Amino acid sequence: MAIPPAETQQLVRKYKDSAAANILQGRPAEALADYRKAVELNAHDTAARLKVAELLAQLGHRQEAVREFHYLAIRYAAEGQTIHAIAACKLILAIDPDHQETQENLASLIAMQSAEDATPEQPRPAPTPLFSRLPRDVFLALLGLLEMRRIAGGESIITEGERGRSMFILVQGTVRVVHTPENAPPRTLAELGEGSFFGEMGLISDAPRTASVIATRDCTLLEVTREMLSDLGARFPAFEQVVQQFYKDRLLDNLLKSSPVFQPLPEEQKRAIAQRFQSRSVEPDTVLLQQGQRSHALHLLLRGRCSVSHQDAEGGERPYPDMTEGAVFGEISLLLDLRVTATVRAATTCLLLVLDQETVKELVLPHPEVRRTLTQLSRERLDRTAAMLAEGAQVQGSFLI
Ligand code: CMP
Repeated sequence: MAIPPAETQQLVRKYKDSAAANILQGRPAEALADYRKAVELNAHDTAARLKVAELLAQLGHRQEAVREFHYLAIRYAAEGQTIHAIAACKLILAIDPDHQETQENLASLIAMQSAEDATPEQPRPAPTPLFSRLPRDVFLALLGLLEMRRIAGGESIITEGERGRSMFILVQGTVRVVHTPENAPPRTLAELGEGSFFGEMGLISDAPRTASVIATRDCTLLEVTREMLSDLGARFPAFEQVVQQFYKDRLLDNLLKSSPVFQPLPEEQKRAIAQRFQSRSVEPDTVLLQQGQRSHALHLLLRGRCSVSHQDAEGGERPYPDMTEGAVFGEISLLLDLRVTATVRAATTCLLLVLDQETVKELVLPHPEVRRTLTQLSRERLDRTAAMLAEGAQVQGSFLI
C-alpha cells in the first residue's frame, strides 16, 4: 500500500481533528463531511472509514452505512484482523438483520484468512490469540452468537467481587485491570488493548470477579455469555480448550503477583504447574483443611480470606491469624507427612489453587529455593504451635497445616 506524501498526511490529520471537534460539539453531519474528505485523500485509512460508516449509521443513512461496513469487513478479514471483521459484520446486522451479504462477507473473510494470503512483503498483523487458535467452524458459530457492546471511556465494565455472566473480547479501545486486595491500595494488574479478552475467570470458576476492568478509552466489545460458552464448548471442544488455557495462564499470573513462593521457578516449570492446578471457588464457612486429617495437596489462596483455628484436647478453640491473599497452606503435611492440626475455613468467598501431592513432589520440591521457602514457612508455623504448647495447650502428635 502506498504511503501518502507528508503534505497529504498533514491534511488528513487536519480533517480528522476537525471531525473530532465537530463530534464533541454535537455536529455529526459536519464530522461526517470532514471524515469523508480525509477518506478521499487516503482511501486506505480504515480508522477514518470506520468513522464514516458509524456516522452514516448514526445519521440514518442505512444503505450507505452498510456499504461502508461491508468494505471494512472484507478489508479487516484480508488483513487478518478477525475480530474487527466480526464487529463490522455485527454492525451490518444491527442496521439490517436480513442483510444476506454479511454471510458472503464472512465466507470471503474465512477464505482470505488462509495462510497463503500472507506474503513475505505484506505480513499480516498478529491475529488475536483467541481467534488464531480457533477452528473455522467455531469461528462461524461465534459470529452468529456474539453480542456487541459499546462502552464509553472511564466507564466500568467489570466490578471486582460481583458474580459475572459473560466474558468480553476487546475489538477497539483499551482497558485497565485493577485489583484491590483487602486493606491495601488498588493495584493495576494489566493494561489490555485490541484483541485481548477478559472476564473468563468469573465465567469458568463461578467465583466472584477477581478484578475490576475499566475502559480507559471508548471501547467496542464482543460479549460471550456463560450460555454461549457452554453451548460452544459442547459443540467445539477446541474453543473451550483455548479459553481454559487463557484462564490457567491468568491464574498463574495472579498467583505469581500475589505469592512470592513460586517466583524462583524457571518459566517452563511455572507453565507446567499452571497446567496441573485445580482452581476451587468456595463459599464462606467451607472447611478447607480439617484438623486431624491428612492433607494431600498444597493450597494457595488467590482471592479472599480464611480463618484458622486449633482445637485443644479439652475442646477449646484457639484462633490463629487469618490467612490472606497469597497465603500457602498444607505444606507441613506434604513436607513432613504429618496430620493437620488446625482447621482452615473460608472466612469470605475464596478462590484457591490446589496442587496435588504428586505435582508438588515432581515440580515444586526439587527446586532448592522454593523448597527452602516452604520449609521456612513450615518452621515458622511449627514454632508458633510450639509457642502455643508452651502456654499449656495440648497438641496431639501432629502440627499445624
Ligand atoms: P474475571 O475474574 O471474571 O473478571 C476480572 C478479569 O480481569 C478476569 O476475569 C480476567 O479476565 C482479568 N484479569 C485478572 N487478572 C489478570 C491479570 N493478571 N492480567 C490480565 N487480566 C487479568
